[in-house]
Amino acid sequence: MIPAIALVPVAVGLGSYASYLYKSTAYIRRFKEDFNNIMIATGIENKNHETFKIVDIHSKNYGLEVFLNVPDGLSIEHLNNKLNILQDNFNGIVELEKDRFKNYIQLDLITKDIAKYQFTPVKAKESELSLGKDYKGRDFLLDVNKNPHLGIFGTTGSGKSFLLASILSNLLYNSADMVDIYLNQVVKSELACFRDCKGVKFTATTFLEVDLILDKIRLILENRSELFDVYGIRNITQYNKHYPKRKLKRIYFVIEEISFFMEEGFQYIWNNLLLIAKAGRALGIHLICASQRAVATEINPTFKQQLTKVCLQMSSLDSVNILGVGDAKDLKEREILILTTKGFIRTSSPWIDEDYRILHNFIKEIHIPNHDKKEPTKPVLLLSSPATKKKDSKDITIVDVPFKEEPPKDKKKRKGEIDIDEWSDF
Ligand SMILES: Nc1ncnc2c1ncn2[C@@H]1O[C@H](COP(=O)(O)OP(=O)(O)OP(=O)(O)O)[C@@H](O)[C@H]1O
Ligand SMILES: [Mg+2]
Repeated sequence: MIPAIALVPVAVGLGSYASYLYKSTAYIRRFKEDFNNIMIATGIENKNHETFKIVDIHSKNYGLEVFLNVPDGLSIEHLNNKLNILQDNFNGIVELEKDRFKNYIQLDLITKDIAKYQFTPVKAKESELSLGKDYKGRDFLLDVNKNPHLGIFGTTGSGKSFLLASILSNLLYNSADMVDIYLNQVVKSELACFRDCKGVKFTATTFLEVDLILDKIRLILENRSELFDVYGIRNITQYNKHYPKRKLKRIYFVIEEISFFMEEGFQYIWNNLLLIAKAGRALGIHLICASQRAVATEINPTFKQQLTKVCLQMSSLDSVNILGVGDAKDLKEREILILTTKGFIRTSSPWIDEDYRILHNFIKEIHIPNHDKKEPTKPVLLLSSPATKKKDSKDITIVDVPFKEEPPKDKKKRKGEIDIDEWSDF
């Protein structure tokens, strides 16, 4: 016989489950009433005085999942127009979706914060950037074939560098052999711990180094463009499919604070950045830039237009400036609002410890405090390199360095030193 004492936890468990069911049923009932009242109050109806009705509803860990019928003569746009009213009345975030082949609208009401979770790599291709999890707990991967360049915006301390660190870690964990990452951190050095990772080609810390790398990338860009032209290829994915033994690597040019280049006198850097922003997508050359500043006049509008905007906490003014809406001002810690080619996506980035030990667990080359007691090695640039030519701020001449696209090599490159041979071997 089961002792009575052993049944106590079962009874307590059943009791709390019953109370949960009661609460969630009461919540659903109240939501249905509120929804019907809002439909009447807003006056959304067709000529037959029919309006949207709830046909199914489920309690979810993020809030509620609601399915609505679509009366004749009404569309999702009628609800979208009242989105602010719905959100303010339901005290949450409302997302609406209509699949063109389905006869219902899905309404998600998000009332709970996305749970805090630690970084773990998610499976991704070299063309996919991991930008956290959405409110349903699904991993969100940004496809750079469709959203080729990333602009990460947020006030100081909002988490731009930590987000960058998680994006880079996921990329390196999955595709170190298939990417060439260039880190540019003039003045800042928050990503220096990545400098020795396989897949990180170079870490520039001065304007001269940034300039040299951009010159080289421009050469690669022109070379790839010619290569695709000769082979009748439209983009890097197609090229790699047709020539699997000569695959081209994705190039990611990461800038920790783009506003440093907005000062006068860096027109030559902007010229190259603009060129990559305009022509990089098909050629597999991508920009990932972070910035604290977002005032309209500060970022070149053509450049800004090419960026997929990834926003962390910021002022309402900045949010309107970048996204066209003020919503990023309400973001909490680690929450991200992304404006993709398909519209807004809300995600949360993973929690990472201050020392990046979590990242180091997965990628051993990421430096953590006291891990490596050697003096930091400053990359040596040979100033006799042909790329260190004198700059004319308007006219950039391409130095004729023999250049050949080569298949990725397994051999790990020596770090910390760049010589003239390597410059022609990108
Ligand atoms: N994903 C995260 N996980 C854990 N802590 C975080 C995360 N993002 C931000 N933080 C906390 O916020 C602090 C500031 O983050 P971060 O250095 O990324 O800001 P930032 O936007 O790069 O600031 P700045 O513009 O000044 O460089 C971190 O030191 C950390 O304490
Ligand atoms: Mg930072």
